[in-house]
Amino acid sequence: MVLDSGGAPRREAEIGPGELAWSFNHLDPAVAETAYETMGRIRRGCPVARSGELDGFVLVTGYDEIREAAQASDRFSAYVDGLGAAAVVTEMREAVAPMFETDDDHHHQWRRTLMDFFTPAAAAAQDQYVRAICRETLQEMIPRGAADLVSGYTRQVPPLVIGRMLGLAELERAWLSEHVRALYSAETLLEAQQIGRVYADFLLGQIRERRARPGRDLLSCMVAAEVDGRIANEEELVKMTMLMVAAGHLTTADACATAVLQLLENPALRERVTALPVLLEPFVEELVRHEPAVAATGRTVTTHTHLGGLTLEPGDRLLLAWGSANRDERRFDDGDVFRLDRDRSRTPHLGWGSGEHRCLGRHLARVELRVMLDELLRAIPDFQLQPHATVRRTFGVIRGVATLPVQWSRR
Ligand code: HEM
Repeated sequence: MVLDSGGAPRREAEIGPGELAWSFNHLDPAVAETAYETMGRIRRGCPVARSGELDGFVLVTGYDEIREAAQASDRFSAYVDGLGAAAVVTEMREAVAPMFETDDDHHHQWRRTLMDFFTPAAAAAQDQYVRAICRETLQEMIPRGAADLVSGYTRQVPPLVIGRMLGLAELERAWLSEHVRALYSAETLLEAQQIGRVYADFLLGQIRERRARPGRDLLSCMVAAEVDGRIANEEELVKMTMLMVAAGHLTTADACATAVLQLLENPALRERVTALPVLLEPFVEELVRHEPAVAATGRTVTTHTHLGGLTLEPGDRLLLAWGSANRDERRFDDGDVFRLDRDRSRTPHLGWGSGEHRCLGRHLARVELRVMLDELLRAIPDFQLQPHATVRRTFGVIRGVATLPVQWSRR
């Protein structure tokens, strides 16, 4: 919040883009409702600007500037302290997660090692499993006539899918699903720390089990991978697994919730995709452009350089606001508008990232989102927001919706 010299808050319209950027903190819950309006004003004035929040960082909101920073790994490292994706894993701050937080050849080797689990064919092979758990979840829900679709549906399915990829048995998947939901909705730091410790111990047990008895799953592959002549230690593996679980479920769960909200707010669009489910494919892609679930991640400057006219020094931290890039008026016409028929061939959106760390799970995410929405629209075609329900958007590393209290006619 910006105050005038007398200490009174000023309206956003009275504040210049540089000043708006200076007080911008993507983790402040107050940012969520107007995140894109605020970032739009900042972007049009200064697409690379300094913020004084969170010990100081550089907010990058322009398309070209974000793409440049994501692609120039010789100037910008994926390792960043306290900003971006790894900040969702507070339990293991000291360890460096292989792949996610590493650069260059070390990073390439890791990606190549895991690639087979993330091909379009591997993603398509999850279709039936995703469909089965969607149906099971919805069948239990239907007789109730009302539910919060976030806790009851969008956050139920993705943890089971990533758990299965990691090679967890059915009961362990259910355990994981329950604990990550509790962890990421904990109301106090103490509660989060307690759940975090139990969760880290669980993952450590799984890692040790895979070392002793390797399977053909993603976790066994991570545990056995030899990169630069060594295998990752237990601390690195726990952090990497936590990030993999977070990448694999927070994103898809929140993207699905945002998609449902988009359908609730846009009845004509909802009618079109319900009548013609094949349209869910372009719908998901436009959703990831318009409101990418990964809203902002970080980089660290490694050499004296410039970006968008700003001089940067080693150690400066950048925040790449992917969703703002996707609305940059220099690249997209009416970027703020959700358009199912948008021509995507001219400018690729950056909702899946760009450069060497571009989303490894994008094919899987597309399958999960398409199937989750398809099954929901088939099972409960008439769901509506409950009267007087308030819907609160969230923003931070991840963009989503806190709750979606809906009701439908009981059959
Ligand atoms: C709508 C859903 C999703 C969105 C919008 C999304 C977006 C992104 C973005 C923007 C990045 C790049 C971050 C950066 O460069 O700083 C990324 C990386 C990554 N994503 Fe996703 N993601 C989604 C779902 C998934 C899923 C389901 C998985 C499955 C595990 C996944 C796995 C990963 C991994 C492993 C990386 C890191 C790749 C690397 O460091 O080389 N993502 N994602």
